[in-house]
Amino acid sequence: MKISIAELYQKYERKEELEGLEVTIEGYIKNSRFLGQVGFLSVNDGSSFLNLQAVFDVSKFSLENAKLGASIYLEGKIHITEQAKQPFELNVTAAKVIGPVSDSYPLQKKRTTFEYLRTIPQWRMKTNTFNAVFRVRSTLAYYIHQYFHENGFYWIHTPILTANDCEGEGQTFNVYADLKKPTEFFNKDNVHLTVSGQLHVEPFALTYGKVYTFGPTFRAEKSNTTRHAAEFWMVEPEIAWAHLNDNMDLMEDFLKYVVKHTMEDCKADIEFFNERVDNHLIERLNNFLSNAFIRLPYTEALKKLKEANDNGHHFEVEDFNFGLDFGSEHEKYLTEVIYKGPVFLTDYPKDIKAFYMKQNDDNKTVGAVDLLVPFIGELCGGSERECDYDKLLKRMEELHMNIEAYQWYLDLRKNGSIPHSGFGLGFERLVMLVTGMSNIRDTLPYPRCYKDMLF
Ligand code: 4AD
Ligand code: MG
Repeated sequence: MKISIAELYQKYERKEELEGLEVTIEGYIKNSRFLGQVGFLSVNDGSSFLNLQAVFDVSKFSLENAKLGASIYLEGKIHITEQAKQPFELNVTAAKVIGPVSDSYPLQKKRTTFEYLRTIPQWRMKTNTFNAVFRVRSTLAYYIHQYFHENGFYWIHTPILTANDCEGEGQTFNVYADLKKPTEFFNKDNVHLTVSGQLHVEPFALTYGKVYTFGPTFRAEKSNTTRHAAEFWMVEPEIAWAHLNDNMDLMEDFLKYVVKHTMEDCKADIEFFNERVDNHLIERLNNFLSNAFIRLPYTEALKKLKEANDNGHHFEVEDFNFGLDFGSEHEKYLTEVIYKGPVFLTDYPKDIKAFYMKQNDDNKTVGAVDLLVPFIGELCGGSERECDYDKLLKRMEELHMNIEAYQWYLDLRKNGSIPHSGFGLGFERLVMLVTGMSNIRDTLPYPRCYKDMLF
């Protein structure tokens, strides 16, 4: 019977069914070694982080070309060994190398740097680290959909091509069918790749109650950091009849669910990351799951930072006046030094946030929330939305926005307007959080970053 290595490990939970089982395995060689007349192949078929050890009689099989990276077909019988590292093995009865490897195979047994592996994205998923990264990435995506499905959300497919700039930052990639006639195709001045599905998803929230988007987004930010990509995936839930606290409750419940289930499903992968990439990973993830996230208004955070500064902590930017847009040094200090865990920062100055956010009564702040986490910084950004037509219009005028282009959005506040809220999760930053990988380029199958795109 043809079976995957993952299925064999599942069957190991009912060992009696496994002993003596005759199976066919198709995989790739991770390692080969010989002890006298006995050969040992470590085989991985991609279904699990874990390998299968195949044992064979060297005099019966000529497997000289069974080298690291070669593909192999195996038949044999499973034997339970009860050894911790390899609780069962395959006693080979038939074997054939299907695709041997050439001398130029770029992955050798010695450890290679992540920088080097970034130059060969078509191969790096075969290394232990990246094999685990993309498995975790897929599992996280699965549980994101599962969480929303279980909680009555509808998945809305918002467009990638758009004429709006949701965040109003102007950091968009423009789209033309013909450079010489840029407006011809859509008969629009300004068509670009979406920076966020929020504006398009809001009308759906105002009908279905609970909705989300999950898809690629694009930002032409010229920032060459370890946390910014030009093409990344975003998850954007939007909920009706909901204020800022409801938004934070959702964010916390959602993230804890997704992280918890992924840790369970990808146990071997996460243990590997903890051992080889970041020794504090599991401890940090357990803290993430077991403690309530801190909720802190911006003005309080400002006070805490000023206090730290007065007590001698040096920051690059030390102007702690209302209006400061926190840099990563400030975010790090809050999450890593003061609170040692995730922090919801709320009620930011309106001038450093997007036009659509709910205006607070103080006329200075808006109902914004950023979720900051240790070592990553901003994981999610969201807000309650301004649902009063006049207030929203006034703010858009202050910002000299093209009202006509956004009239469709404004009109949502004219007919059956209700309080509603939502947020955006940077999916790659979640992958970083769960794997301990410290560069966003190492969470994307084919990273597209500033001055950085291979093929
Ligand atoms: O904070 P942002 O800009 O919020 C929005 O776009 C809202 N419209 C979301 C909403 O309320 N529906 O982006 C949301 C998240 C950030 O917190 C960050 O995690 C991620 O998206 N993000 C990026 N991730 C990777 N590379 C980039 N260049 C990113 N820019 C934002
Ligand atoms: Mg943000």
